[in-house]
Amino acid sequence: MFERLEPKPADAILKLIGEYKNDPRAEKVDLGVGVYRNAAGDTPILNSVKKAEHWLVGTQSSKAYLGSRGDIAFCDAIQKLVFGAAASDGRITTLQSPGGSGALRVAAEVVRIANPEVCLWMSDPTWNNHAPLLGEAGIKLQSYPYYDLDSHSIRFDAMLESLQKAATGDIVLLHGCCHNPTGMDLSPAQWNQVADVAAARQLVPFVDLAYQGFSENLDDDAYGVRMLIERVPEMIVTQSCSKNFGLYRDRVGALSFIAADEVTANTTLSQALSTVRTMYSLPPDHGAAIVSHILGDPALRHEWLEELVGMRDRLKEMRQLLVSALSDAAPDHDFSHVLRTTGMFCYLGVTAEQVERLKGERGVYMVGSSRINVCGITSGNVEYLAQSIASVL
Ligand code: LMR
Repeated sequence: MFERLEPKPADAILKLIGEYKNDPRAEKVDLGVGVYRNAAGDTPILNSVKKAEHWLVGTQSSKAYLGSRGDIAFCDAIQKLVFGAAASDGRITTLQSPGGSGALRVAAEVVRIANPEVCLWMSDPTWNNHAPLLGEAGIKLQSYPYYDLDSHSIRFDAMLESLQKAATGDIVLLHGCCHNPTGMDLSPAQWNQVADVAAARQLVPFVDLAYQGFSENLDDDAYGVRMLIERVPEMIVTQSCSKNFGLYRDRVGALSFIAADEVTANTTLSQALSTVRTMYSLPPDHGAAIVSHILGDPALRHEWLEELVGMRDRLKEMRQLLVSALSDAAPDHDFSHVLRTTGMFCYLGVTAEQVERLKGERGVYMVGSSRINVCGITSGNVEYLAQSIASVL
């Protein structure tokens, strides 16, 4: 039977992990997969996470199943993190998921069950894995314009115009903050306008919040979610703890449904739990238990918040460092748009061919779209990086 299968190409982002690892050049630079790196180029476990892990190992008395919804204390804590004061609203139901990706897929499955005809609108561009992950669930996908590569700005009018054409009940996927791959976020005023269109056309916002805390702070980064819940009857929110807690491989995320009333919210949750049971039965527990403990322990929470600020500040600093090094290495080229971006990523604004040359000639790795992971920059490699970029322009 397996001889019938055609080989599948490796994922464009994940394949960079192996390529970079196997590159023997000492001066190589990794701006590929979205993983935080510190000034030494490492991805250490956060101190708050280490302490919570010690606590967990010392106190956990059972590894028995918890149920398809996962750890209820985690669900409550993570719900508060994203919805703030609105978290106690009975319209919201939350389940723990295997990373943000697990949340996205379960959401898509529930959407298909609820409305097989629905169309989900994604930004152009969006995270490489959004279309495969959501589309494989069997829902129709469409794109709305988002980013203008020439001016490095949001095509906001075109985005709204496109959403005006969406059918009643269609779903609009929005990046809660730190747009992946462009790093260009909607302003609060633009979020409000999107909410106007969603409310008027009865669209369902679906906010993917994978980087809460990586742009401004936990509250500002949740602006879109918190404003939308006041404005629309139905919404979907996915969260990831990969980046803000650095729990990448532990797979911790959450999925929330906001329904028009409490009864519908609980019905939606029951469908989601049934979907979970048939897909992976129950989510992994270890990372979620850590997050739950950190959020519930004032000292650990404080330490985590400080670590989050440290990661965020480094992203800002590295953007400035790169733009300044590029203005020396390539004075005829304008890279100032990098300073208008936020979070882990931005587009450098070079061609796919130049991206390939950077990899082949200089050992500089980034996604083919020229998306760079800003944390791959250090004060030690920025000069080499800027010279490498200048050499292919
Ligand atoms: C990324 O965009 O690089 C990260 O979200 C990792 C991934 O799974 O693609």
